[in-house]
This record gives sequence, structure tokens and C-alpha cells, in this order.
Amino acid sequence: MKIINIVFLFLVVVGLALSNPHHHNTWVNQDVQRSIDLTTQLSKQILSVKAKSLVDNNKNYQISFDNTYHVSVQAFDDKNNELKVHLSPNSINIKEGFNTFDIELNNKYKINEVLSLKLKVTLMSQMKPYPVEIKQGQTQLVLYNDNHYFTSPYKTETQKTTVKLASGKVESFSEIKPSSLKTNTIVYGPFSNVEAFTVSPMRIHFENSAHFMVLTQLKKEYEVSHWGNLAVETSYYLENQGAHLKGPFSRLDYQRNPGANPSHISEINEAVPLSAADFYYRDSIGNISTSVYQYQSNRINFKITPRFPLMGGWKNNFYTGYNLPIQNFLSVDSADGSYHLNVTFGVGIDNIYVEDHQVKIILPEGATDIKVKSPFPVTETREIRKTYLDTVGRPVIVLNVRDTSFENYRYIQVTYNLSSLSIFHEPLLVIGAVFTFCLFIMFYSRFDLSINKSKVN
Ligand SMILES: *[C@@H]1O[C@H](CO)[C@@H](O)[C@H](O)[C@H]1NC(C)=O
Ligand SMILES: *[C@@H]1O[C@H](CO)[C@@H](O)[C@H](O)[C@H]1NC(C)=O
Ligand SMILES: *[C@@H]1O[C@H](CO)[C@@H](O)[C@H](O)[C@H]1NC(C)=O
Repeated sequence: MKIINIVFLFLVVVGLALSNPHHHNTWVNQDVQRSIDLTTQLSKQILSVKAKSLVDNNKNYQISFDNTYHVSVQAFDDKNNELKVHLSPNSINIKEGFNTFDIELNNKYKINEVLSLKLKVTLMSQMKPYPVEIKQGQTQLVLYNDNHYFTSPYKTETQKTTVKLASGKVESFSEIKPSSLKTNTIVYGPFSNVEAFTVSPMRIHFENSAHFMVLTQLKKEYEVSHWGNLAVETSYYLENQGAHLKGPFSRLDYQRNPGANPSHISEINEAVPLSAADFYYRDSIGNISTSVYQYQSNRINFKITPRFPLMGGWKNNFYTGYNLPIQNFLSVDSADGSYHLNVTFGVGIDNIYVEDHQVKIILPEGATDIKVKSPFPVTETREIRKTYLDTVGRPVIVLNVRDTSFENYRYIQVTYNLSSLSIFHEPLLVIGAVFTFCLFIMFYSRFDLSINKSKVN
């Protein structure tokens, strides 16, 4: 009986040891410099990390965030090569309450070798209007929450954080020694020897009139035609997530002094490719003709002016579209004849936050060997869409991702094969139909099917 108990205990201990293979002592952060930009609705952070490997063959570096944060991470090595970042498969086991990301390094690091990393981190909806309601004409105050320390699964020897605010009007900020506020910049640290996963809540309450422009849903559709056109249509579900408007909205006051409410949204500026043409812009009521497009040196600024200004808490949805010449976005691989489509993932709107992001790419009928290359993880599904003259339907790639910001500016690539016969499928169908019709007319006019004629004769 006793022996069985001991054996059982032994198995439990071994089991526990095996089920926890995450050694957080693979790196030690020697120095971390973090700079946080809070001049918009986003928290844009740039981190310089120097870390020493504590083991051999080390090719994975991890970074963690409180799992209530909406976050996107980009990592670069010291030669500015972008590294692959993804949520660690055993993120939940590493530390409860945190999301841990794996950064795949390009080299294997030896023991005591030092890694230099640059991380670009964007926290979305981390800043909240506070108070949550303001009257028309009042300025917006926000409350920002973060960690005074760099959240890491490793120990950090020295670190410092600099926070740049949208204004010098600071109601309050969490003080920890050492910290200081000068005009619109708060410096936290330097701190030394902070253990892994140490959290000390940072709170900054300050004035920020930036637009809290959120697309609760974004749907972008590309339709590829090998006859020269790439049609782009975008549906926007826009919400001003800034401080809600308290009391009535006075259009008179607004028109007299639009600048008095800096956090409202009166127009949206989207960068679209220089070769775009045939713009349209509609909402649920119909055509809107107030949109303009301004040619700039390397892009067109598509200025979308909704029917009414969006005050805090207000929503609007509308859609726009334009055409692009396909040859600027589609190329042919001379080696194997495959096609490469290279298009942007989202909308070219600065400092946007997209909650639910969907991109659809409609390929020509008959496209095969379809592959998608995305610089960040996306969920991919397929559909078939039938339009006029389609027989089997067009393959549609559906990409979904949540919480994007800078990702909107990134490019995705789609590779596929299409036989030249498929390209002529539709014209051949039309020609075939016309030909059949002519044949029909030809025969019809030759055969006299009337009954009356012979009787007359
Ligand atoms: C929208 O406006 C354009 C140009 O002003 C016009 O050609 C088009 O027919 C209009 N569409 C609708 C649905 O009213
Ligand atoms: C996609 O297009 C962009 C902009 O033209 C370009 O910078 C990028 O290198 C292209 N990517 C690929 C893989 O062709
Ligand atoms: C396209 O077809 C060629 C030749 O059949 C083949 O070598 C190539 O791998 C295909 N491309 C893709 C993306 O599968």
C-alpha cells in the first residue's frame, strides 16, 4: 500500500515536471528602453531590448502582455530584418493572465551571447475617455493604464520608460520612484533588477483631443479581373469611441466654431494608390457627392466627409469603391507562369483601430493552387462566388483578423495559377452564345414554318 502511494507520488511529481517545460531562465534582459507615444488614440511603443542568452541553441525570445490588452507586435533584429511573431502555443501555461508571444530569431544564440531587438508594439483601446461623457465644446480627458515595468517572462536588469503625452495638461499620474514629469513627458525609471512578470500599475490622466476613430467592422473586397481591372470596395462601420456627448447637439454651435470640439470626427482621410480611378462613396441613404480626392506625390488622399459630424459615441456606416489598373498589382512569375497579387491589407487611415477586420479577394474563375502569404497571422477560409457568366464560380479568399492598426498599411500576397484557356472562358462563352444565336437565325430564316402561306398559293 505504502509503496503504491510512493510510486503514485513519484509519477505525479514527474508528470508535473514534464507538463511544465517552459524555462523562463533562457534569457536575461540586460537593458530595456521603452518609449511610449500617447499623442493619438493608440499607445505606440518602441522598445530597444538587449538580452543575454543563458542557454545554447537559443532561437526563441518571448514577450508578454496582460491578456486584457488588445495588442499587436512587430519585431526587428539589429539588421532591421523583420522577425516572425505569433502567440505562443502554450501561452496560457506560461503565466496565467498574460498573453505570451514567441519571436522567432534568425540565428541560434549561444550561451552568454547578446541579442539586440527592436520591438514596435501598439496597444489599442488602452486609453479610455475619463470622464466618459462631456458636453459639446468641452475637451476630452483620457485615462491610460499600463505597467510601469516592461512585462517580460525574464528578469530585467535595467530599464527605463519615457511616455510622451498628447498635451502638458496632466490631471494626475501614478508616481513611483524614480519618476518625473516635464511639460508633456513622463519618465519612469531607471529601475534595476525587476523580476519576471512584475506588474506595477501605471495610470496617467491627461488631456487628449485625438480622434478615437474606431472601425468596429471593416470589410474590404478586391475583385481581380485579368481583363485589366482590380475593383476595390470597402465597407466602414465607424464609431467615435471618444468621450460621449452629454446633452443635446447644437449644429448652430458646431457650425459657428467647429474647432471647439476637437475630438469629433468630421472627415476621414484615406491614402489610396495613385493609379486609383472611378471613385464612389455611398451610405444607406444613397450617393454622397462631397468626397474629394487630392493628388499627392505618391498617393491620392481620398477625403470622405460623412453627412454629419461624428460626436463621441456616434456611429455611421458607409462604403466606398474605386478601380485600379491590374498590372500595377499583379505580376507573372516567368519561371512557372504563376500569378502574384500584392495588395494592402486594410485602409490607409492613420492611427486607426479596427476591431473586426475582413478582407476578401475574389479571383478569376478557374484559379488553382491558391496560396496566401501574410506578414502576420490571419484566419483564412474559402468561398465560391457566382456572378453572371460564371459556370463553376470564382474562388474567394476570406481573411479575418481582430484588432489591427498598423497592419492596415501592410501588404499581403496571393499566388495562383490560371490557365490561359480560363482567361478566355467568359469571352468564349459570349462568342459561343452569339454564334449559336446567329446559327439559329440562319436556320430559322431558311425554314419556312408557316402554315398559311401554302394555302394562299
Ligand atoms: C451616384 O452619382 C454618380 C455621379 O454623380 C452617378 O453617376 C450615379 O448614377 C449615382 N448613383 C446613384 C445610385 O444615385
Ligand atoms: C508589394 O507592393 C509594395 C508597394 O508597391 C512593395 O513595397 C512590396 O515590396 C511588394 N511586395 C512584394 C512581395 O512584391
Ligand atoms: C503553377 O503551375 C506550375 C506548373 O504546373 C507549377 O510548377 C507551380 O508550382 C504552380 N504554382 C503554384 C502556386 O502552385
